[in-house]
Amino acid sequence: MADRGEPILRVRNLVKHFPLTRGILFKSQIGAVQAVDDVSFDLYEGETLGIVGESGCGKSTVAKLLMNLEQPTSGEIFYKGEDISKLSGRALKAVRRNIQMVFQDPYTSLNPRMTVGDIIGEPFAIHPDAAPKGSRDKRVRELLDLVGLNPEYINRYPHQFSGGQRQRIGIARGLALNPEIIVCDEPVSALDVSVQAQVINLMERLQNELNLAYVFIAHDLSIVRHISDRVGVMYLGKLAEVGTDAQIYDHPTHPYTQALLSAVPQPDPEGRDTRERIILAGDVPSPANPPSGCRFRTRCWKAQDICAEEVPLLAVPERYKDSDTGAKHESACHFAEDKDIVHA
Ligand SMILES: Nc1ncnc2c1ncn2[C@@H]1O[C@H](COP(=O)(O)OP(=O)(O)OP(=O)(O)O)[C@@H](O)[C@H]1O
Ligand code: SF4
Ligand SMILES: [Mg+2]
Repeated sequence: MADRGEPILRVRNLVKHFPLTRGILFKSQIGAVQAVDDVSFDLYEGETLGIVGESGCGKSTVAKLLMNLEQPTSGEIFYKGEDISKLSGRALKAVRRNIQMVFQDPYTSLNPRMTVGDIIGEPFAIHPDAAPKGSRDKRVRELLDLVGLNPEYINRYPHQFSGGQRQRIGIARGLALNPEIIVCDEPVSALDVSVQAQVINLMERLQNELNLAYVFIAHDLSIVRHISDRVGVMYLGKLAEVGTDAQIYDHPTHPYTQALLSAVPQPDPEGRDTRERIILAGDVPSPANPPSGCRFRTRCWKAQDICAEEVPLLAVPERYKDSDTGAKHESACHFAEDKDIVHA
């Protein structure tokens, strides 16, 4: 891959455990939900890193940690070399300006009693220098125009807009402070399929125009492929596999990714397709009591004794280190192997 310089965001060994307590008056900790466990990744300027995985695998917790809405149990988040997970007060405020979020639900994430102008301009109250007082209306109108909404709508209320338009308002709010990074947690999951594509196209256009970096969280594999330069697959609090979209979708080496990609069998009327179809069996174990070793082993058809004993590290598998195929990317499996699968 071409040299892209230093990552704008460098996440290292990020851990978030939520304590499980018992008792009302005298609380005692009886365990912990291991929502995020030793997650590391880089994000480069202007790129989209997609994060996919089943419900409860820790995607939103990663987003909240990146946004400083949750404090990590351990680990670091470096923004341009500075560990922002330990910042507070003015220093935190200065960094937060560059990292904004777009939420899943455009219905509940906008205050119904505020006008669109007030919603989009809200960040200016915290960062007054971003738009001096007299210029705020003008800036909000510019933002409305940027996301494809009529600037004349500035005094309308959220209920007067459709779901797709509301998500455009959410995006405009995210852009108000000219951030470099936008963390999007399932930004189109609540929208109709026909509207999803429009919002995704808008996000791609904005990325090109403003050189934004996206962390794009979703459970829909095809949407993630469409928008992402690189993809990280999460399972039960850990990253199972990370690579470019072509590496992950055409040469997955982790059994979990292979299972996800072939989750929905395609009809093959000719019956000539000899590629394997993998059915993902069983439920995801509880993150309060994850399996030892590899967390995927209770659902993995390739599991061996070592999988229960040793946590597989996320790294380029030894067998592909000298190869020039798409299989040469990070995978956290003791038996990582390229496999020709039928895509969903
Ligand atoms: N504040 C909290 N206290 C305790 N447990 C939590 C808390 N927030 C999240 N969890 C748990 O952490 C795990 C990861 O949750 P998270 O919301 O990050 O998953 P997710 O991948 O975003 O799921 P979804 O696709 O359903 O949005 C889940 O088991 C969840 O119940
Ligand atoms: S490490 Fe073992 S259990 Fe985990 S994915 Fe690989 S083969 Fe399966
Ligand atoms: Mg979530």
